[in-house]
Amino acid sequence: MSYRVALNFEDGVTRFIEARADELVADAAYRAGLNIPLDCRDGACGTCKCYCESGDYTLGSYIDDALTEEEAAGRQVLPCQMKAKSDCVLRIPVSSAMCKVKIGSMSAEIESVRPLSPSSIGFSLKLKDPDGMRYLPGQYINVSVPGTPETRSYSFSSMPRDGVVQFLVRNIPGGLMSSYLSERGKAGDVVTIAGPMGSFYLRDVTRPVLFLAGGTGLAPFLAMLEELERTTPTQPIHMVYGVTNDADLVEVSTLEAYAARIPGFTFTTVVAAADSAHPQKGYVTHHLPEAALNGGDVDVYLCGPPPMVDAVRAYLKDKQIVPANFHYEKFSPSEARK
Ligand SMILES: Cc1cc2nc3c(=O)[nH]c(=O)nc-3n(C[C@H](O)[C@H](O)[C@H](O)COP(=O)(O)OP(=O)(O)OC[C@H]3O[C@@H](n4cnc5c(N)ncnc54)[C@H](O)[C@@H]3O)c2cc1C
Ligand code: FES
Repeated sequence: MSYRVALNFEDGVTRFIEARADELVADAAYRAGLNIPLDCRDGACGTCKCYCESGDYTLGSYIDDALTEEEAAGRQVLPCQMKAKSDCVLRIPVSSAMCKVKIGSMSAEIESVRPLSPSSIGFSLKLKDPDGMRYLPGQYINVSVPGTPETRSYSFSSMPRDGVVQFLVRNIPGGLMSSYLSERGKAGDVVTIAGPMGSFYLRDVTRPVLFLAGGTGLAPFLAMLEELERTTPTQPIHMVYGVTNDADLVEVSTLEAYAARIPGFTFTTVVAAADSAHPQKGYVTHHLPEAALNGGDVDVYLCGPPPMVDAVRAYLKDKQIVPANFHYEKFSPSEARK
């Protein structure tokens, strides 16, 4: 029996390892060629200490100097002593480069390109080696733009199905990837992908959850909802999905289907344009129900273009709402990241 352990490094790079039930997680990592920080290997120095974000495990034997009672109660673990008892996610507090971890890279074939609205395009990739590109719901990859040396980042908008993964992209007039997808992208084209990356991924649902999506910032939430349907949450999950114009609203029927199938999942759509005929107008912050904020005892996930993410963060700060956990992803243009 073995379990899937995701190692999420400080720089957002994630690698999965298979740890046998009777195997120390550090041994499984080294077996996979991932040199996570280790010194004593004996539960004595604390060098390997990291945080277990989700999953069950046994801590093994160690001394208090390496891991205090309080740290153990707060889900800190020592991979040189711990054994996984279910699939787990570990947050390793160093960068992947320090652990000689190479970002996974492979070629993939475009399976389909679908215009979803005048402003959004869906595309799917057939992965050559799906096992080499496992990811957590909410993470992203870098995709090469065919015919150019450039790459662009895209969040997975689905979990893999028969090696096929989906994406949701804003069609920016004149944009490099946008032009490729809208003008010449077709099934059979080959791209290079690198990843998975990012710390914006779904954690265990232990309290009410609020999803705030701006435009194609909906993408990672679609992957998260797929996972939530599989795990059946016991807490309410509310989503506010805001766009600029009526035509930007996509995948609403998908959200309706999730609302019918996932217990406790509800959503509202919001359109900002003054001339919109939509029943809810304005920004996502105008449509945040008090109940969904749960007096701050809520895990907030926020994703969209940088101005939207900044506006929501400023709003929450202004209202002195400090969520129990707050995760966000900005869809920054690539030149802003150079
Ligand atoms: C971690 C991460 C995940 C991402 N995931 C997604 C995703 O799932 N879906 C998605 O649609 N995008 C996503 N993005 C944004 C994406 O990487 C590209 O920046 C975007 O698709 C534009 O690429 P392009 O080649 O078409 O335009 P470019 O050639 O890069 O840009 C053309 C022009 O458009 C401007 N521009 C670029 N982006 C924006 C914007 N958001 N708003 C206004 N102007 C802009 C640029 O400044 C430039 O002037 C993500 C970004 C990051 C950092
Ligand atoms: S390496 Fe020393 S406690 Fe794990």
